Amino acid sequence: MRRKIGTGLMVCGVALSVFAMAGALSGCKPLPPSKDPKLFTPEEARGAQVFQTKCARCHYPTTTRGLHGPGLQAITKVKSMPSGAPPTDERLTATILHGHGMMEPVPMKDEDMPYLLAYLHTL
Ligand code: HEC
Repeated sequence: MRRKIGTGLMVCGVALSVFAMAGALSGCKPLPPSKDPKLFTPEEARGAQVFQTKCARCHYPTTTRGLHGPGLQAITKVKSMPSGAPPTDERLTATILHGHGMMEPVPMKDEDMPYLLAYLHTL
């Protein structure tokens, strides 16, 4: 059973189909695509592994479809989250280490964080 969390963009999609003009005016556009994993830097590739172990059970990385938490496509590029603006690295770090709303804190080695952030920027 998938819970419906992170429906910000779906709501945007609905708004687009129902009120096409309003949707267009409020800035609903297709998200920029995630970076091709073949083009990852070593840092990004290492971050992808961190994501697999720490985040993948709750988040799809390259779609906005929800799992336990919202899909994280374009998380650092657009206002894709229910909470608004594209999060800064500080904000992401705090979300991960201290939790946020329904997300529990995810313990993480200090040394892994820069790699994870590099990866999140590819989404
Ligand atoms: C046990 C499940 C779980 C794990 C593991 C998890 N998350 Fe989450 N995450 C959630 C849920 C649920 C939310 C929605 C929180 C809310 O809005 O109340 C969320 C929200 C988020 C958000 C959006 C916060 C915002 O600004 O609205 C980001 C970014 C995020 N998670 C990143 C990560 C990263 C990166 C990892 C791995 C280090 C991770 N999460 C691991 C469940 C999880």
